[in-house]
Amino acid sequence: MMSLVTHNKEEATMEFEKVVKSRHSVRNFTDQAVSKQTICEIIEIAQQSPSWFNSQPWKVYVAMDKLLENIKTECSKNNRAKKPAEPDFPVMDRNEWNVRTKANMEKWRHDIVHHLSDFDDTQNEAGLSLYNAPVILYLTIPKNSSLWSVFDAGSFGQTIMLTAKDMGLDTLPNYNSVRFPKIVRHQLGIPDSETLVVGISLGYAKDATPNTHSTGRATLDDVLKFNN
Ligand SMILES: Cc1cc2nc3c(=O)[nH]c(=O)nc-3n(C[C@H](O)[C@H](O)[C@H](O)COP(=O)(O)O)c2cc1C
Repeated sequence: MMSLVTHNKEEATMEFEKVVKSRHSVRNFTDQAVSKQTICEIIEIAQQSPSWFNSQPWKVYVAMDKLLENIKTECSKNNRAKKPAEPDFPVMDRNEWNVRTKANMEKWRHDIVHHLSDFDDTQNEAGLSLYNAPVILYLTIPKNSSLWSVFDAGSFGQTIMLTAKDMGLDTLPNYNSVRFPKIVRHQLGIPDSETLVVGISLGYAKDATPNTHSTGRATLDDVLKFNN
């Protein structure tokens, strides 16, 4: 884990850049357990994330051991029965996205399918069994929230993922884990007054496919605009 005492600004920046660049989505985890102590450390650091008026709208429900097994079994049953997903946030059809974001998504699919010929992000075995992760951190915000709280939950989620990486763990933020919120709510005791935002799978990466794939990014010109 990165030392909190840094002696040299350049060294600190490089360490940070290394953490940011080495975080990537992991879709195949080892059986190694994650301790409650580790989870507490990650979440306590992530609580430093900024939020609208310091509202801190997020909550984290931890699925592990028997409860996670129950979630996986129940979700898998629904998946196999081809039950339509009912996520708390609506999913927009790929074809309805804006031209630029749609092109990025198509490129991602093209690259990953080229790398892994049997990859299917919605129906592959790994996805259906929730990637064999030993832990899923489910993030919620109050149902009675402003859109700003989604932004806040996103920054909280990213800090969770970077902190986990810094501590030698890997993550996958995934929609697949929130396709059937009723199951997750029931197993984890999440009240109806909270919206299930996303699940972040947490654990240790297997040195195997599909983890060997690394995604690209759009050019800086496409993202960054200076007007003078
Ligand atoms: C909100 C959200 C939901 C996602 N859902 C899934 C998912 O259900 N299945 C999956 O394989 N990847 C999922 N991803 C991971 C993205 O595909 C991934 O972040 C993106 O391709 C960039 O790759 P990287 O995380 O390796 O940098 C999700 C990412 C986010 C932020």
